[in-house]
Amino acid sequence: MTQKVLITSALPYANGPLHFGHIAGAYLPADCYARFERLRKNEVLYICGSDEYGIAITMSADLAGRTPKQHVDIFHEINQKFFERLNISFDHYSRTSSPKHIAPVQQYFLDLVQNGFIEERITNQLYSEADKRFLADRYVTGTCPKCGYENARGDECPHCGASYEATDLKNPRSKLTNAPLVLKPTKHWFILLDKFKERLTKWTQEKNWKANVINFIKGYIDDLHPRSITRDSNWGVPVPLPNSEGKVLYVWFDAPIGYISASQEWAAKIGKPEHWKDFWCDPSTKLVQFIGKDNIPFHAVIFPAMTMGQNQPYKLVDELPANEFYKLEGRQFSKSDGWYIDLEDFFTKYTTDQIRYAIAANAPETNDSEFTWKDFQLRCNTDLLGKFGNLINRTLVFAQNHCGGKVPPRGELKPIDREFLDQIQKLTQEAYQAYAEFKLRRASQLLMELAQLGNVYFDTKKPWADAKNPATLPLMQSTISCCLECLKTLALVAYPIIPSTAIEVWTMLGQKESLESLGWEKVAQLTIADGASLPPPAILFKKIEDEQIKMEIAKLHEKAHEAAPKNDTAKHEPLKELVDIEAVKKLDLRVGIILKAEPVPKSKKLLKLEVDLGFEKRTIVAGIALSYKPEQLIGKKVVVVANLKPATLMGVESQGMLLAGNLNHQTELAHIQELPPGSVVS
Ligand code: MF3
Ligand code: ZN
Repeated sequence: MTQKVLITSALPYANGPLHFGHIAGAYLPADCYARFERLRKNEVLYICGSDEYGIAITMSADLAGRTPKQHVDIFHEINQKFFERLNISFDHYSRTSSPKHIAPVQQYFLDLVQNGFIEERITNQLYSEADKRFLADRYVTGTCPKCGYENARGDECPHCGASYEATDLKNPRSKLTNAPLVLKPTKHWFILLDKFKERLTKWTQEKNWKANVINFIKGYIDDLHPRSITRDSNWGVPVPLPNSEGKVLYVWFDAPIGYISASQEWAAKIGKPEHWKDFWCDPSTKLVQFIGKDNIPFHAVIFPAMTMGQNQPYKLVDELPANEFYKLEGRQFSKSDGWYIDLEDFFTKYTTDQIRYAIAANAPETNDSEFTWKDFQLRCNTDLLGKFGNLINRTLVFAQNHCGGKVPPRGELKPIDREFLDQIQKLTQEAYQAYAEFKLRRASQLLMELAQLGNVYFDTKKPWADAKNPATLPLMQSTISCCLECLKTLALVAYPIIPSTAIEVWTMLGQKESLESLGWEKVAQLTIADGASLPPPAILFKKIEDEQIKMEIAKLHEKAHEAAPKNDTAKHEPLKELVDIEAVKKLDLRVGIILKAEPVPKSKKLLKLEVDLGFEKRTIVAGIALSYKPEQLIGKKVVVVANLKPATLMGVESQGMLLAGNLNHQTELAHIQELPPGSVVS
């Protein structure tokens, strides 16, 4: 029996270009899974689309001098092309501004009203008499109620860090027109989430999700309270009630319903307008939603509550692979900070499968992870080229030269050959399991283990030696036949992650029927027929040179530098008065290595460190907890002020101090790469 599998990736906002950080969280893992499920011959529907409403969109459209519609049209197209380039195999990519989206969203709302889960409330909101409209918090600026800073935001003050309600601002003004704002009563609709507490608790108890997801949800459910689900705007799905002009549904109310409306659109597109129900309204469908961890509350709690409270028999999520964050060389990707990779440029130099593999092999499954150029080079050169490409190339070239470009007869197998074939079976089975459990890193690793198994076998069997002597020719032929078996399996196991390469390998094995149409089980069982001819092999991957990587890293830093605020705009600490060299020489600075790090109880900023100075160990208390997690520090070599008089901080004696750079709230430790602990720094 085939299983129906409905797969979704979080709908990306159409207000900026996507980057590899997004891809690593919600898109590549979902695509690999969708490809795996299709290979397994399950019936798959893989859905996504642009998330196009909300204040964040109108805001950035305003800033760009475009209408919201123009704005989302641009990024919808850019993002859709980017997904194509990455070979993401959506069955349908829709958008929430599609007219088809309105009816299902309004149905949810009206059902929830009818069932007593939505309530109208009157609240005081900031209103612009000049513009005749209520303004959302993001459009409001004013004087900070705490520190008096005049250009504070609607929700928090960039000057003193205070957070508050927009209605607490003194002297509130419109960010757009600077018009003064007044408080005026208006109505909004609230979803009574607390009414779902019991059902949600019971429902989540049956889930076998990652521990961090479960723990997070538990806390969230305990704290459920009514939430406003409408906004003052004309960009969004209108509230379907009389007397509600200028009110639209909150973007997080409409967007998840986009999974359903996109499925309806897909069904219409393929000419079976009712077919979407076979997925959404059949309890035996498996609904798997791939998201980044910041989207957990909406997918694990709020959307399920909305679905429980409406009248259609829609599926609730079964599996919620929530990924951690993926950074770029230690920092968040950010276009405005210049901390990003120019994708146009990227794709002229590297291939889709190189990036797919590099991300999969280092996917942020259980921890945050990062793209680094060095890691990218290593994955491409050592793994794809050195292990995977090498085995494929050496086997196929050998078969051309010594087997007349045909699959040689397998002949009589020796124990070593049988052992090799058994190992292949075993690794294939493990990879299957890894894919089924969303363990993409593990699957990538198994893929390389499989290639290495083949390389070691090839080296051990030395087919080149056997080829020289007619008496040992059959031995050589068994070896190559078994290696081709390994290649076939490599194509199969590689397919979900690097589909184009896998298909190329499959073709180089002279296969007529496609890998996808045969499916996992058949490919795993099939033996490549004796005598079948093998087309001349092509090179799969190019080496990435060190020079190239150095240049990429330099380019990244250059862009970040260009984007950094220039001297005249940045606020610098005033310089202290001059000192003479003797004053500097009095400081005894040493290289130290951090051996242990733990939080200081009851302190947000302090960490207690054990630092080895080579000649002795010190306990040092450092105010760096906002910038470093304890585990990030172990093994770091830092600069210690070694002759500072001890001082007690929060009850812990600190025997020294670490040098660090500081900007606003960010701290970065000065750090030494090569020299051993105890070395003098001057
Ligand atoms: N646009 C949101 C984000 O990028 C995700 C929306 S997911 C949906 O964080 F479920 F609402 F569609
Ligand atoms: Zn302030």
